[in-house]
Amino acid sequence: MAVFASEHPLVKHKVSLLREESISVKSFRELANEIATILTVEATTNLALKQTPITCWSGTISAPILANKNPTLVPILRAGLGMLDGALKILPCAKISVVGLKRNEETLQPESYYQNIVADIEERTAIIIDPMLATGGSALATIELLKSTGSKSIIALFLVAAPEGIEALQSAHPDVDLYVASIDEKLNDQGYILPGLGDAGDKLFGTI
Ligand code: URA
Repeated sequence: MAVFASEHPLVKHKVSLLREESISVKSFRELANEIATILTVEATTNLALKQTPITCWSGTISAPILANKNPTLVPILRAGLGMLDGALKILPCAKISVVGLKRNEETLQPESYYQNIVADIEERTAIIIDPMLATGGSALATIELLKSTGSKSIIALFLVAAPEGIEALQSAHPDVDLYVASIDEKLNDQGYILPGLGDAGDKLFGTI
């Protein structure tokens, strides 16, 4: 697996604005989606192309189009929805596979309470979107769910990632590439990323 931390100056600038303690819900939503748009561009640079005849105004030419079906976007409920519009700007025809996870209070592990994954998942790259990669528990559960339904190609996008979460994903799923806007310092005792963004779901949904 490879980890790609964006070097784009606009991504760095927008992540800094996201960190402002007094940020409004509106600005947080806008910035999260704008960063998701850029990360989606960066994450799709290696999609395979095939030469195809295209009839254009000057005749028939051989032109490159995507070799495979469009990727499916996989927002993890609920915070992942906060990156969906931004990702759809680049992949407007993408089918959406939704995963909802909750903590099993006995095992303390995330469990799926809702999943609606495209039927032809094995023919599409799955692009997981979630603002925060903290311990990695939700991302691991989502990757395992996707693989168990036939997914063969998975990429994951995060706004902010902790080294602990990256390590967890790297060791369990070396085939999954990660695209992140920022790799932060560490997790605190409550599992929040430092310096991080606070609770990204609450900030996106205005439930603080
Ligand atoms: N989820 C969040 O929303 N923030 C964190 O810092 C960690 C997990």
